Amino acid sequence: MRTIFIVSSFALSAVIIALSFLTPGILWLFVIVLPLIILGVYDMLQSHHSIRRNFPLIGRMRFLLESLGPEIRQYFVETDTSGTPFNRLQRALVYSRAKLQKQTHPFGTELNVYEENYEWMPHSIYPALVKHEQFRVTIGGPDCKQAYSASLLNVSAMSYGALSKNAVLALNKGAKLGNFYHNTGEGGVSPYHLEGGGDLVYQVGTGYFGCRTTDGNFSDEKFTESAGYPHVKMIEIKLSQGAKPGHGGVLPAAKNTPEIAKIRGVEPFTTVLSPPSHKAFHDATTLLQFVQRLRTLSKGKPIGFKLCIGNRNEFTDICKAMISTGIKPDFITVDGGEGGTGAAPLEFSNSVGMPLEDALVFVVDSLRSFNLKKDIRVIASGKVISAFDIVKMLSIGADLCNSARGMLFSIGCIQALKCDTNTCPTGVTSHKPEFMKGLVVEDKFQRTANFHKETMQVFNELIAAAGISDISQLNRNLIFQRVDSSSSKSFQEIYPGAEKANA
Ligand SMILES: Cc1cc2nc3c(=O)[nH]c(=O)nc-3n(C[C@H](O)[C@H](O)[C@H](O)COP(=O)(O)O)c2cc1C
Ligand code: SF4
Repeated sequence: MRTIFIVSSFALSAVIIALSFLTPGILWLFVIVLPLIILGVYDMLQSHHSIRRNFPLIGRMRFLLESLGPEIRQYFVETDTSGTPFNRLQRALVYSRAKLQKQTHPFGTELNVYEENYEWMPHSIYPALVKHEQFRVTIGGPDCKQAYSASLLNVSAMSYGALSKNAVLALNKGAKLGNFYHNTGEGGVSPYHLEGGGDLVYQVGTGYFGCRTTDGNFSDEKFTESAGYPHVKMIEIKLSQGAKPGHGGVLPAAKNTPEIAKIRGVEPFTTVLSPPSHKAFHDATTLLQFVQRLRTLSKGKPIGFKLCIGNRNEFTDICKAMISTGIKPDFITVDGGEGGTGAAPLEFSNSVGMPLEDALVFVVDSLRSFNLKKDIRVIASGKVISAFDIVKMLSIGADLCNSARGMLFSIGCIQALKCDTNTCPTGVTSHKPEFMKGLVVEDKFQRTANFHKETMQVFNELIAAAGISDISQLNRNLIFQRVDSSSSKSFQEIYPGAEKANA
């Protein structure tokens, strides 16, 4: 291929020179041809890419096509039900709700209802009246002094930094308009989280951003400041996240701008680590003491923790410690291994951490078996996108749900899968002004609120069709799953629940 390149470069140049004796203007072709020849020679001489070295110029097509792969698959190859992580049907559902477009689907289901794992819910011959106002859930156990009334669907944790300024503003203003909460993510409370006026959950990660001492430890004083904003309604200690459980994070020096550094309470232009584990506690008892410390410092705001389930015994230990210390969190967020992230090693996203359904069953059953569930709200996250997903989570035993990527679709995310490159084409995760300007806050915040409102309306219609008038009646008999081509089981049969445990 190298020889063909060299020969054709000479041949083409010779033809142009020969023709220039007849038509001198043709020499202009060298403006195009010469840079291509130089590029090809450079490809032949460089030693990083064997394809480009062996196939000068033409080898570049591979990289170009590979970089366009997600778009090509999405536009030309993908069927309505085959795209990942979210298929076209799921994405279109969010887009149409967000834009208040067509709310119906023609001609019947596109799903294979005889396929293993197909799920459905039974309706009743006697449907209930559809409620038009949204259900709310009160979060705050006996020790909480500022209980919060939450929506059943909220914006999951995503930091300013992982998201652009315009994305944070749009989500926050949407949360304000739709009366649901917006989790700050572990990057701390930014001015953009405050500007929109939406309710916030302040997330405390291992980097203690917004509540850290100069040496990276937890600071009571800084925490009191961040937790004291009136917008902050609850505080969430992040133990782990489904997409990368047990893995920390790095804020590279280049991304640590003076603005980000100020928000996170770190030195600008230094590399800052979010270690895999917390420094403020090291076992179940000290975790619960930390919960109590944050409760006192925040003057009784609801305190919870978020985790992806890994080693089950560690969670059982926390339940036992709740009994022995008498300290209980107000909520626990269960994040499934299928959850999203801005950036994570592939092996962590693909192969570490329990998927949401198993984890939720385990957490709910553990809390019930220790008689703790009545005081602790359980929040589910991990590919919750439709009203049926919410019915399913609540039927298993969750009290409410968070959505990250569903909310991103509502502000224009097209699943281009470039969140870790600062070149997000829709400006959702890119800080470059040329991309960010595509995300017009005044337009997109309405869409987030629309997506939320329409989904909650369909949720009300779904449970009414099942003859249910209140979310307290949702239970595992309401979801069925096909276990093989000729039989199916209710979740009650698949997940019958745990016996009462000994503390
Ligand atoms: C861009 C992005 C950034 C995220 N940042 C955080 C974070 O700071 N803290 C956290 O606990 N989870 C973070 N997550 C995970 C989400 O909060 C959520 O747990 C997970 O995505 C599951 O929800 P989903 O399937 O609805 O996206 C992030 C997810 C995305 C997509
Ligand atoms: S559109 Fe942006 S936010 Fe959405 S997947 Fe692509 S890069 Fe990530």
